Amino acid sequence: MSDLSFVRQKYLNYFSSLDHSVVPSTSLVPDNDPTTLFTSAGMQSMIPYFFGLKHPEGKRIANVQKCFRAEDIEAVGDNRHTTFFEMLGNWSFGDYFKKEQITFIFNFLIKELALDPQNLYVSCFAGNKQLGIKRDDEAALLWQQLFASVGIKATIVEDPSLGMQAGRIFFYGEQKNWWSRSGVPANMPNGELGGPDSEIFYDFGEQNNDLTNKIHQQARPCHINCECGRFLEIGNSVFMQYQKTGTGFVPLSQANIDFGGGLERILMAYQKQPDIFKTAAFWPLIEKIQSLTNYSYKDATKQKYFRIIADHMKAAVMLLADGVVPSSKEQGYVLRRLLRRALRQAAYLNIKQETLVELVPVIVLLYEDCYPKLREQEQTISQLLQNEQLKFSKSLSNGLKEFEKISLQHNQLTAALAFKLYESFGFPLELSLEEAQAKALPVEENIKALYLKYQIAHSVSSKSVAKNKFKSGLADEGEITTKYHSMTHLLHAALRQVLGESVAQKGSNITAERLRFDFSYPKALTAIEKEQITNLVNQWIEADLPIVKETMSKKEALNSGAIALFIDKYPSTVNVYSIGKNPTGNKKGTDFISRELCSGPHVERTGMIGQMVIVKEKAVADGIRRIYALQKTS
Ligand code: SER
Repeated sequence: MSDLSFVRQKYLNYFSSLDHSVVPSTSLVPDNDPTTLFTSAGMQSMIPYFFGLKHPEGKRIANVQKCFRAEDIEAVGDNRHTTFFEMLGNWSFGDYFKKEQITFIFNFLIKELALDPQNLYVSCFAGNKQLGIKRDDEAALLWQQLFASVGIKATIVEDPSLGMQAGRIFFYGEQKNWWSRSGVPANMPNGELGGPDSEIFYDFGEQNNDLTNKIHQQARPCHINCECGRFLEIGNSVFMQYQKTGTGFVPLSQANIDFGGGLERILMAYQKQPDIFKTAAFWPLIEKIQSLTNYSYKDATKQKYFRIIADHMKAAVMLLADGVVPSSKEQGYVLRRLLRRALRQAAYLNIKQETLVELVPVIVLLYEDCYPKLREQEQTISQLLQNEQLKFSKSLSNGLKEFEKISLQHNQLTAALAFKLYESFGFPLELSLEEAQAKALPVEENIKALYLKYQIAHSVSSKSVAKNKFKSGLADEGEITTKYHSMTHLLHAALRQVLGESVAQKGSNITAERLRFDFSYPKALTAIEKEQITNLVNQWIEADLPIVKETMSKKEALNSGAIALFIDKYPSTVNVYSIGKNPTGNKKGTDFISRELCSGPHVERTGMIGQMVIVKEKAVADGIRRIYALQKTS
């Protein structure tokens, strides 16, 4: 068992022995939460229970939550930042509180994981008179007693700027020791919950690197929240007990515990390893990357590339496993950024882009004990990665050439140029910024905000283009989308065969990346149903059936058994597309598997479509399900 699995399992076993029910991680894409793209803290799925709703598994819960923080993408490259991480969580919904929590977590760290308590430091909330919330002396005293129980005299320090030498327990204000989804109390909207917290830090000892030396040049004393890399926060106990209202903070009907500890960070302490990429959570990936290049991770000038590739590929695999597909918006865009950035770094290490997919089995092996579905999804994930890589590799070298020209012809990278690079070569802004940095090309002031304006203007204009195109037929006539249009008809037919004729199309949306299909059906599809549907579609594709277009009157079309989605909207003469062994003829019962009124376009034979993979199936409204599917490239 890897140390990663060991620490994770130890935590769950320990809290399970303290009467906690262990619940599985939720998806990286939160359900029913339009306010946020990703799950970035374990508490997101627990909100209703803090307010008093009964959790079906009881008042004590423990879990490991997959988290993704897109805001850290650019910070990846040092020895501690990652975008994907797992958060160990234990939760009390109006059950135990401060005393038990602090004792539980201290014992977990020093008894279960045998961390040296000499290396642990803690912080508590300094209080806020305006909010009417007192300094958390209770937590500080509890910590002091626990340290005393292992023979450590832990001094409580009022003024954290005195530095670590002054003691072991520090008070900080709301910037550091207050937790809510929106940060400090002033930023919280009314209705939001939050509370003071107490953080635990691990001391890795004095570091000897550029950053540390720079920070401590002025002989500033090192302190637990110092940026120098000596201390790392490994856990946070939030005393979730207040709700913000128009007239100030009021206590919730119950006092709750929300503990969150970064699994990888606790692992760093367990392995006494200040470089997260050298822990069991990343080392197999780094080793694999080393096998794909002639460079070594030891080479300090190259470490950054290894780290970005390892982090981004792992995060990408986890996002793909949770149904995110690369695209130009929302979660899909973030995924695309990760993949394209990883591919670009691969080039710096002379790694052949197509070999990066070899990291997938390494990631699956590392995580399958906790997330067993990864093994089933491995092929689909690899396929999706390959599709994206193929798409990007064609444009990467052209984009780099164009960038070269830009850097010779212009004296700065402007938002307009960066947006052109994205439009023509799929270069996300971050890549252009990195290239500019590498070439020491100055960057227009406020480039990010200006770029956003271009993006918004572009999406507005492309929406109106789409609207106009829709009038005369379907949006995109490109080769890939045409295949997806035909695949949509097959999927529709397969859904009706497997789930029954009551299934009706409620909408569809096609991009060059995937098809999205909405249909009426009252419940989630089972794994077997999904498999049957996929097999049917793929059999039809395999059979290379003709797709035939006929033009006829609307009445004739309906009499011939064609399915019409918006019957009143069609003109009196319509196109009917039929798919089957012998799909022509106007009479019902002819040998077709699909016959739909549609303005097209479609491919001529089903054999031209790639095999279908369903990547996600979910509810979009009461009685309406949505499927995302894509075609394999070969
Ligand atoms: N909500 C806190 C955090 O995310 C503890 O789980 O850090």
